Amino acid sequence: MRQILVTSALPYANGHIHIGHLVEYIQTDIWVRFQKMRGNRCIYICADDTHGAAITLRAQAEKRSEIDVITEMSQAHQADFAGFGIEFDQYGSTHSDENRALCADIWEGLNKAGLIVTEDVEQFFDTEKGVYLADRFIRGTCPNCGSKDQPGDNCSKCDAVYEATELIDPISQISNSTPELRRTPHKFIDVEKARDTIANWIDDDTLPEQTVNQLKGSYLHEPLKQKDLSRPGPYFGFEIPDFEGNYWYVWYDAPIGYIATTHQWCKANGEELDAWWRNEDCEIHHFIGKDITYFHTILWPAMLEAGDFQLPAKVRIHGFLTVDGEKMSKSKGTFVRATSYLDHLDPTYLRYYYATKLNSRIEDIDLNLEEFATRVNSELVGKVVNIASRSAKFVAKTGLSDTYPDDGGLFEKFAKAGDDIAAHYEAGDFSKATRAIIELADLANPYVEENAPWELKKDETKAQELQDVCTVALNLFRQLAIYLGPVIPGITEKVSTLFDEPLTSWDQAKTPVTGKTLNKFKHLVQRVDPAKIEAMIEAGKEAAAAEAKLNAAAGSWDDSSDALDAEPIQPEISFDDFAKLDLRVARVVEANEVPKANKLVQLTLSLGGDETRNVFAGIKAAYKPEDLEGKLVVMVANLAPRKMKFGVSEGMVIAAGPGKDEIYLLSPDSGAVPGQRVS
Ligand code: MSP
Ligand code: ZN
Repeated sequence: MRQILVTSALPYANGHIHIGHLVEYIQTDIWVRFQKMRGNRCIYICADDTHGAAITLRAQAEKRSEIDVITEMSQAHQADFAGFGIEFDQYGSTHSDENRALCADIWEGLNKAGLIVTEDVEQFFDTEKGVYLADRFIRGTCPNCGSKDQPGDNCSKCDAVYEATELIDPISQISNSTPELRRTPHKFIDVEKARDTIANWIDDDTLPEQTVNQLKGSYLHEPLKQKDLSRPGPYFGFEIPDFEGNYWYVWYDAPIGYIATTHQWCKANGEELDAWWRNEDCEIHHFIGKDITYFHTILWPAMLEAGDFQLPAKVRIHGFLTVDGEKMSKSKGTFVRATSYLDHLDPTYLRYYYATKLNSRIEDIDLNLEEFATRVNSELVGKVVNIASRSAKFVAKTGLSDTYPDDGGLFEKFAKAGDDIAAHYEAGDFSKATRAIIELADLANPYVEENAPWELKKDETKAQELQDVCTVALNLFRQLAIYLGPVIPGITEKVSTLFDEPLTSWDQAKTPVTGKTLNKFKHLVQRVDPAKIEAMIEAGKEAAAAEAKLNAAAGSWDDSSDALDAEPIQPEISFDDFAKLDLRVARVVEANEVPKANKLVQLTLSLGGDETRNVFAGIKAAYKPEDLEGKLVVMVANLAPRKMKFGVSEGMVIAAGPGKDEIYLLSPDSGAVPGQRVS
């Protein structure tokens, strides 16, 4: 029996859980459930990451205390996780006594080992709000090209990289005031001094190959940079014992939260912390996203070593979620919060779908909404659950046969497949595990079809055969339910009830059950209704629109000046000049590709009645012809016709944007009709 401690990254307390986060927490939960089913001693530890400047800002904006904010958010996070069947053994908070004490212990270790150095840092201070400003809260004029309103770290115009302190006319984004440059001492960790520990630990056993290459190729290639671990107050966090008025930077105390939360679990369960964190026989596995690799592979090993703790056995790193091939977007409704998903859809679907996508490499994973529905319906519902739906009812009265019937070797085959499937789970290759399980289902279904219990049922003389066939089908189904247990615990629990036996151990798939009456078969899972996915996305869009309205009301739009900088406003014109321009609402009644033209789409625009115009528009990279037909647009109706290579263009459609695939046709609000003048 192995002893395994598993963590997921600690979610920030300044935001809600969304379907991107869930890639990680579902992935970890599957792996933990798998280990538990294998009979290993495994605990799953997580906590809220509560410290830092962002929490203070949120608290100020909401006019309440930081404690209020983190308490409420922790409850919301835990409710979301529970809704998806994510089961922690302990869920803590970095704002705990245990964490404060451990932070101090490790700090002492770092100091003793000579890893802490003090150096002066120049940082902007917002005198109105009384806070030091992180780079992202400062904007100003680029010291390189002079563009106004640029971010605190690099220029969006000329790509120059600079320190916030180099900005000309810096402005605090929090108060819109001019910040003051202050010089204060900070405590740094000299990571280079821990190079040997880090370099020896980084290998193919502990990290994905891709990460090993990346770290060896970049970070480890040069002297490791010192990392600033302190922030002058006010700062929401723990004050550093030997450095009054200064606080540990959030990324110092956050990972220590893993140990602190384990400590809480130990206290509640009468265990010793050292048995988990200072024990070579205990494997520590961290699951994280690729964005926080540095903290877990360079900084964290150095800290653990100084605190005399065990280094992780593995850091398992995953990529980021995209939805339909794009970054999650609030306005497109694809930035789906956990609660919003649960309002519309069954969590089992997402657990199953993510499992079919996850592997041990650091690839981004795509939630394709159409595939999501078809895959869950065809595989989980159509191939797995269907086996039970088509056989359980026929043995409701008789129960299972007393001896396991001849099934042509299917049960044995399924039992043997358990080892391969387990190896895939162990490696984090859940996509391979689910595929192997579905391949088994593809053997069970023909068995049911060929033996057609619903036909046997019609013939009273075939009662024994009916019972035997259903006994086989249900035993095969039970094996699949065990193998899918880590992924779809909700369903496996219902199957446990059906068989009146908790299906909690992998080895249960080795022996068939016979001579047993079953509990009433209850529906296990519904098919995915695509309309509900649609409704979820719509709800997201509406929420985004409502949020935009609120922002507008608060005057807190954050539009950049890029577009205006790129194209300054033209010289003034008179009203008469403007009146010469005849803009009209028009309907695209036909849109066609123009063969051989790279940029053009041919449009037939109707101005109402029989009045049409033929227009060639350079919008091919941004619009497909079939998406344009029927659309209302705005056109210049009195532009002199222009002869082009492909024909005469009789006007122009109005669009915004820099060009290529960034072209946005203007369309009127609903109510406008073709022919109406725009003025
Ligand atoms: N608080 C830090 C972690 C501290 S660990 C000591 C943090 N929090 S987070 O809330 O931003 O992210 C938590 C985890 O979710 C991270 O591992 C992060 O990579 C992951 N994800 C956040 N958004 C994600 C996607 N869109 N897709 C996949 N995973 C994502 O980082
Ligand atoms: Zn610049």
